[in-house]
Amino acid sequence: MKILVIGSGGREHALAWKISQSKRVEKIFCAPANAGISEIAESVPIKAVDINKLLEFAKKEAVDLTVVGPEAPLALGIVDEFQKNGLKIFGPQRFAAKLEASKVFSKQVMAKYGVPTAEFKVFSDADQAKEYVAKKGAPCVVKADGLAQGKGVVVAKTIKEAQDAITLIMQEGVFGEAGNHVVIEECLIGQEASILILTDAETAIPLASSQDHKRVFDNDEGLNTGGMGAYSPAPAVTPEIFKYIEQKIIQPMIKGLAKEGIVYRGVLYAGIMLTAEGPKVLEFNVRFGDPETQAILPRLKSDIVEVMLAVAEGKLSSIKKLDWDDRACVCVTLAAGGYPGPYEKAKVITGLEEVKKMTDVIAFHSGTRKFGDKIVTDGGRVLGVTALGANIKEAITRCYQGVDKIKFEGMHFRRDIGVRAV
Ligand code: AMP
Ligand code: GLY
Repeated sequence: MKILVIGSGGREHALAWKISQSKRVEKIFCAPANAGISEIAESVPIKAVDINKLLEFAKKEAVDLTVVGPEAPLALGIVDEFQKNGLKIFGPQRFAAKLEASKVFSKQVMAKYGVPTAEFKVFSDADQAKEYVAKKGAPCVVKADGLAQGKGVVVAKTIKEAQDAITLIMQEGVFGEAGNHVVIEECLIGQEASILILTDAETAIPLASSQDHKRVFDNDEGLNTGGMGAYSPAPAVTPEIFKYIEQKIIQPMIKGLAKEGIVYRGVLYAGIMLTAEGPKVLEFNVRFGDPETQAILPRLKSDIVEVMLAVAEGKLSSIKKLDWDDRACVCVTLAAGGYPGPYEKAKVITGLEEVKKMTDVIAFHSGTRKFGDKIVTDGGRVLGVTALGANIKEAITRCYQGVDKIKFEGMHFRRDIGVRAV
């Protein structure tokens, strides 16, 4: 089979790496890829959102299955276009992608089908939103409705902070149209976990649990990022909690979506807060998590291509279960100087060859590119050093042994990834 992976981050590197282990695969393309992905796949210089060019390419090369990494092409309807042209593609259609592209839509579906989530109210008028916040009090959470690259959520400790966020989002329009509506939510307290589910709308198979670290500095301090590291499994998600999430969140959500006329095929990512009252949904994403995927896929023993194909064809019931490695996996993000603010690029990375010599340690590339015979930084999140270990503690030790080998100017990372799981 010929597979096309769309995207260029650590998630896509992990996907391409796992796909490359399938006996069914003869060729992998990745658009637009990065320096690490290009070692296992042919890079295709087409942007992830350039749907027409991707379609043309997939037709020309007779690609058997396309796997979409990021949310933007899904929200633009890449799946609908490929399907119209008779091409197999892993990911939900445009209308289903609204679950991530519109927080208002997502909350409304959850409310309608009784999926546990934070109490909320939707506003399209800034003054009314501010009045509501003043009445409800702080802490509270202000969310821009649309896609805002993970920056559209403000967990406000004071009424003023919440009102300032409303001003920025709705009146100053920092996220453009994504801020035409806001959701004001009750602030939930607890540990977070990510549950990713593969579904073809009929059958749902959850992947191993994971947890990411969103804040930039140790002890969860500093600004939110795309993710500074992740680990799997997440011990906070006990088998009992896992079952609850399956029965009270996943099943009702998939059935509810079906009632809304949404045939959801792909991976559904539930960001969950484990509150004292039980698990509640923070958000749904319509794609694999980044960096969660880097921590999950090294533990997957089953052939991912078979599973993704079954999802795309609506035949997931043919897969009985997934096999998992019992070991734990930890991924540490190595970020560029300045990230998550404006960051530097084109810094030479050393030590990658040494990591390659290690067993069960992999440096997934996020933001890298080739420059002559060197590999240089090309994004805020640069690498995700990932290690397997008998347990989380051992995986952490091995992961940081890998991290120690890598250097580039300005590199920073968290030193406490996975620690709360030990
Ligand atoms: P979201 O993009 O909706 O997942 O929000 C990003 C992050 O904001 C989450 O991972 C949480 O850490 C935090 N967050 C979102 N909603 C809430 C909430 N209702 N209560 C507390 N924290 C939240
Ligand atoms: N790690 C969070 C996300 O992928 O949205």
